[in-house]
Amino acid sequence: MDKKLLIRKALESKEKAYAPYSKFRVGAALLTSTGKIYTGCNIENASYTPTICAERTAIAKAVSEGEREIVAIAVTGDSQWTYPCGVCRQVIREFGKDAIVIVVNSEDEYKEYKLSELLPHSFGPEDLNN
Ligand code: THU
Repeated sequence: MDKKLLIRKALESKEKAYAPYSKFRVGAALLTSTGKIYTGCNIENASYTPTICAERTAIAKAVSEGEREIVAIAVTGDSQWTYPCGVCRQVIREFGKDAIVIVVNSEDEYKEYKLSELLPHSFGPEDLNN
């Protein structure tokens, strides 16, 4: 995995954030099992609640292109160590039980986690009997 590329893409995507209300920009880049990278930024709304986080923007782009497995996702925001919110952790879980989550401050400063560390005892697709 080209971790540095994923990190750079997350940093670049933050520049595209549409965050006029919070003024808090977030960027994400994810790697799928097919080897492709999809990026996303947060997209806010005047009505506030329709806001979508950067991680879920990237996931929606990937899944709508036919991807089903997240191998790794890098996330960066306007504060030090911006971690994925709880909703995004659950959406990552759907497509990446074993995903690596890279929390990025800069190209050279980042921390890596397993999703299962950030979302222990999680609920996922396998838990439904259908
Ligand atoms: N935000 C994300 O994009 N990802 C997260 O995991 C945390 C929060 C965005 C949503 C909103 O546009 C702004 O950050 C402030 O909450």
